[in-house]
Amino acid sequence: MNILAPSILAADFSHLGDCIAQAEAEGAQYLHIDVMDGTFVPSISFGMPLISSIRSATGMVFDVHLMVQEPGRYIQDFARCGADILTVHAEACTHLDNVLDSIHAAGCRAGIALNPATPLCVLDYVVHKADMILVMTVNPGFGGQKLISVMPEKVRQLRSYLDARGLKADIEVDGGINEETVRSVLEAGANVIVAGTAVFGGDITANTAKMMQILREYD
Ligand code: DX5
Ligand code: ZN
Repeated sequence: MNILAPSILAADFSHLGDCIAQAEAEGAQYLHIDVMDGTFVPSISFGMPLISSIRSATGMVFDVHLMVQEPGRYIQDFARCGADILTVHAEACTHLDNVLDSIHAAGCRAGIALNPATPLCVLDYVVHKADMILVMTVNPGFGGQKLISVMPEKVRQLRSYLDARGLKADIEVDGGINEETVRSVLEAGANVIVAGTAVFGGDITANTAKMMQILREYD
């Protein structure tokens, strides 16, 4: 089953609980939470207090995307504030293998994110420890960007790479996904679809329903 993961980065923070409830009511299963540190990416978003405060507002799976340098320093903190999945960037971890172990030790599922320019071979010796691989379809740091056109091909190669190893990890895509682009990544083999602007920009109920309808076509 394909999963929609609305990114709260594009939501109206003065009504965050209501925004989340609308997406959840239309069937979005994950809530994608973008943490940015101003070092790994230029921008700063939010951190643990916000995640803790929305934890009681929804039963959605908290899919926390750490755009943070050396995220291994914060794994237990994010687990404690309610993360279900913790995704770290391969480029941001000096000791990625250790960080994946610490995510599992904290009781969370572990994801590895790859920037657009990062080749799949960085996964070679750690992929068996990942529950999910996040293919960034834009350069991370900001919502509302345009999907980089060669990224569906990277998703296709990743699906073959996992199949060749008999691995069932989820493939998540993030950045520039909307009603026009989502089919290209679903056809390539992605099954967890992040959408910020496409869900929270405008009528959340209608936007979520439309995205969910397209995802179900590919189940
Ligand atoms: C980008 C973030 C994304 C972002 C996606 O650095 O990781 O999750 O919120 O936003 P859209 O869907 O608007 O491109
Ligand atoms: Zn993200």
